[in-house]
Amino acid sequence: MTVSTAPGKVYLFGEHAVVYGEPAVPCAIERRARVAVDERDDDHIRVEARDLSLDGFTVEYAGDTDGRPDVDAPTDLVDAAMGYIDAAVEQARDAADAPDAGFDIRVESEIPLGAGLGSSAAVAVAGIDAATRELGAPLGPKEVADRAYRAEYDVQDGQASRADTFCSAMGGAVRVEGDDCRRIDTPNLPFVVGFDGGAGDTGELVAGVRRLKREYGFAADTVGNIGDIVRRGESLLAGADPAADPDPDLLAELGRLMDFDHGLLEALGVSSRTLDSMVWAAREAGAHGAKLTGAGGGGCIVALDETPETRTALSYTAECRDAFRAELDREGVREAGRR
Ligand code: MEV
Repeated sequence: MTVSTAPGKVYLFGEHAVVYGEPAVPCAIERRARVAVDERDDDHIRVEARDLSLDGFTVEYAGDTDGRPDVDAPTDLVDAAMGYIDAAVEQARDAADAPDAGFDIRVESEIPLGAGLGSSAAVAVAGIDAATRELGAPLGPKEVADRAYRAEYDVQDGQASRADTFCSAMGGAVRVEGDDCRRIDTPNLPFVVGFDGGAGDTGELVAGVRRLKREYGFAADTVGNIGDIVRRGESLLAGADPAADPDPDLLAELGRLMDFDHGLLEALGVSSRTLDSMVWAAREAGAHGAKLTGAGGGGCIVALDETPETRTALSYTAECRDAFRAELDREGVREAGRR
């Protein structure tokens, strides 16, 4: 059995626009998905999944996904999780040149599904890493990122950027613009996350933005404007000392850019009442800035605040189910055990 873990992420800036070639800056956070993979003697796949925020499920089926039986769990949860796991298995089989390999897979995730914290990317990254190691064909983190991107791309009908998967595989803060993916140095930013207990459908939300962009020139401009925010944010980060605590002026300016970014995402129709409530609760508590993170529609917001105020305010906000500080995780995918 081989176990790998990979981190989730928040977007400092740039989700959605990154799908159209604008830059984005996601940052890995210390919440991980852990995938244990045991090679079987047959070509079956058996998956057990536990998500801390949702009920778990177990499902067993033969090599391909068509014969999947009914299971006693919400179908959207099963479909969402299984789609990524199936695609990750296919990538691992292909990478290891083992098309008939079967696995027992156990997924444990501290990252709520579909909530904007990169759960699917982390599961795909950790799954591909563990499965290829288990088959004796380990990949480097960039290859894992590339394979996980192809898995996400398939599941999301070709509407995925490399941002989530590259960030999860590499850890730390990254910059992604089309196929150009790299790590960047940033100081430890004081992220606070608010989670409304819900989730959004990434595929549908991305498709909605695409439609708006096609229909309205100003929606296309909005996507470009998000890119401008990211470029400005990046230049601020480039001037900061990664080893020092971020200075108040930097946090204030990054926060202002996050507020702008949230406004533009709202205009593109990917926010929600609960996300907006949490964003406003964070701002009123004195956060430097706050925005939704990930695809939106429900799930999480991220705020910048080095004091306890935002977390406390969010924990008293009716729309917020969980509020926590999220430390930057500078470590990407890694093997966490083998026997
Ligand atoms: C989802 O976490 C981020 C999006 O930009 C989609 C993507 O980049 O693939 C909405």
